[in-house]
Amino acid sequence: MHDEAPITSDADVALRWARTDDRAAVSEVCRRTGDAGRDATGTLVHGELYGLLWAEQYVAHAPSFALVAELDGAVQGYVLAAPDTAAFETLLETEWWPALRVQYPLPGAGTDVDRRLIAHLHQPPRTPATITYRYPAHLHIDLLPSLQGRGLGRRMIAAIEQRLAEVGCRGVHLGVDPRNEHAIGFYAHLGYTPHRSAGTVLFTKRL
Ligand SMILES: CC(C)(COP(=O)(O)OP(=O)(O)OC[C@H]1O[C@@H](n2cnc3c(N)ncnc32)[C@H](O)[C@@H]1OP(=O)(O)O)[C@@H](O)C(=O)NCCC(=O)NCCS
Repeated sequence: MHDEAPITSDADVALRWARTDDRAAVSEVCRRTGDAGRDATGTLVHGELYGLLWAEQYVAHAPSFALVAELDGAVQGYVLAAPDTAAFETLLETEWWPALRVQYPLPGAGTDVDRRLIAHLHQPPRTPATITYRYPAHLHIDLLPSLQGRGLGRRMIAAIEQRLAEVGCRGVHLGVDPRNEHAIGFYAHLGYTPHRSAGTVLFTKRL
């Protein structure tokens, strides 16, 4: 288990490992950064889908690899990881997606975005072994604008890379929306290698 003590604390910002009661705040950050880094709230009816697809399962099932950033006591950012992507995807097939498939049946209602996200939870793509062989872990990082541009992204990536390395993980990957030029520049600056592939920019790094 991980330490409950904060990793670091500035005057107004604290980084700490997640608790299960962070799920709602983490979900909100995910929605408010979900449209290629921008607020996706107005694009769909079921705004909770963003957190359910890309964030809450890490707090629920991999809290040792979920780091949150609090601004004045409120969670406004996170980095979420799974050290063994293939095992995590298998776990979600039994522990996460089935209930959501009942709750959000196909073809789904709402906007095009709602329907695209509902289709995704019915058939989440498995990460190919060609990626997980050398880069078994994956991560997501999202900070609300209030926390961006002050060095937190770099610190949070360093902290999660260290946590992954501590458990013997030797490589990490992540996917970025090709429209998200800011994030693409950020990962490149932090030493991640980009690989163009259909619909996403894959970044990899050895740890
Ligand atoms: C992308 C994101 C995580 C970056 O975090 P951040 O805290 O804003 O970035 P930092 O301030 O820590 O920047 C770290 C370094 O990257 C550099 N950097 C940031 N963006 C850059 C860019 N677009 N191009 C080149 N360098 C960049 C910074 O200058 C800084 O350099 P330094 O540490 O050598 O001085 C954050 O802005 C964010 O959450 N954005 C919205 C959600 C999002 O897009 N998430 C990613 C989805 S894949």
